[in-house]
Amino acid sequence: NATHTLAVIPGDGIGPEVTAEALKVLEAAAPDGVKFEPTRYDLGAERYLATGEVLPDSVLAEIREHDAILLGAVGGKPGDPDLPPGILERGLLLRLRFELDHYVNLRPSRIYPGAESPLANPGEVDFVVVREGTEGPYTGNGGALRVGTPAEVATEVSVNTAYGVERVVRDAFARAQKRRRKLTLVHKTNVLVHAGRVWSRIVAEVAPEFPEVTVDYLHVDAATIFLTTDPSRFDVIVTDNLFGDIITDLAAAITGGIGLAASGNINPDRTAPSMFEPVHGSAPDIAGQQKADPTAAILSGALLLDHLGYPDAAAAVEAAAIADLAARHPGATRRTAEVGDAIAARVGG
Ligand code: NAD
Ligand code: IPM
Ligand code: MN
Repeated sequence: NATHTLAVIPGDGIGPEVTAEALKVLEAAAPDGVKFEPTRYDLGAERYLATGEVLPDSVLAEIREHDAILLGAVGGKPGDPDLPPGILERGLLLRLRFELDHYVNLRPSRIYPGAESPLANPGEVDFVVVREGTEGPYTGNGGALRVGTPAEVATEVSVNTAYGVERVVRDAFARAQKRRRKLTLVHKTNVLVHAGRVWSRIVAEVAPEFPEVTVDYLHVDAATIFLTTDPSRFDVIVTDNLFGDIITDLAAAITGGIGLAASGNINPDRTAPSMFEPVHGSAPDIAGQQKADPTAAILSGALLLDHLGYPDAAAAVEAAAIADLAARHPGATRRTAEVGDAIAARVGG
């Protein structure tokens, strides 16, 4: 018997709608004797607009004490003058990823039977992007001069440490070893030569530890071609934080839509809780209407189950989501909660 504490951050827009369904399915999937104890944290746009608080240190300290974190999405309506872009994204989401050392941002992509890929002939698509989660251009290392003038200068400096690159590359190799043994480094070494050098060197240095893994390299622009024309060639992709952000939205699009794409922000060393969230954002255009597909959040819950040591329960959630997809009627629309209920019922039954 075990009880696992979950810090739940529903967040903004469709975040609360999809998180409710993910929790519903988690409860249905919990193995006998296992209980989840959710604590909700009202972080996000509403709290910020009411109090000016984004992520108080005391709240971060509380969140840190949980076994895992489930997050919906954060981010306000575009153009809201009271909520400039970046406040919540940087101050809440990225701060959690950085402070909790989520250096593996794991984003699996599969074309499930029944999912509607926009590609005519995609073949068997099943790959995982291991996106670096704590460095790159995301660190906030940069600045601006003469802001608002014609002479404005802005820099965003990408940080790539040998330590940070090595740990994520080693994780990606280990995942490839357990899968189809193919690793693709995606970067832009022909232009970003300083960062490119450290990524290439470390991949080459770690490779001999995994002699069965075939290593490949693609520039990120070419990677978008192959993700569209030949996605079945990929097994594990390891890449920088920003490239990983961009190619995983593309990966979601080719595998049936952003409503299906799950992710885990993993701290493999388990020095802090890992955080599970859909790849998508707060979708202000459909928020509050029960139109969002909760499948991405539910599949993120499956990644959470796997991380906490329940691979069978994780597989059951994935199977239930696949069955739900296969049973969808083209053109029919269901409310967010109906999809969650249907998947929870399949898990329970
Ligand atoms: P988005 O992912 O929120 O939306 C892009 C498009 O996909 C929209 O048309 C939306 O309706 C649709 N969509 C997204 N999730 C869906 C779902 N579950 N079911 C059906 N349709 C879905 O991206 P955006 O519009 O660029 O960003 C909106 C806000 O979310 C911004 O403030 C952004 O910073 C933030 N954001 C947050 C996260 C996160 O919290 N992890 C991720 C991405 C974006
Ligand atoms: C994602 C999002 C975030 C990112 C933003 C909201 C900070 O786009 O999780 O993919 O860029 O990582
Ligand atoms: Mn993104």
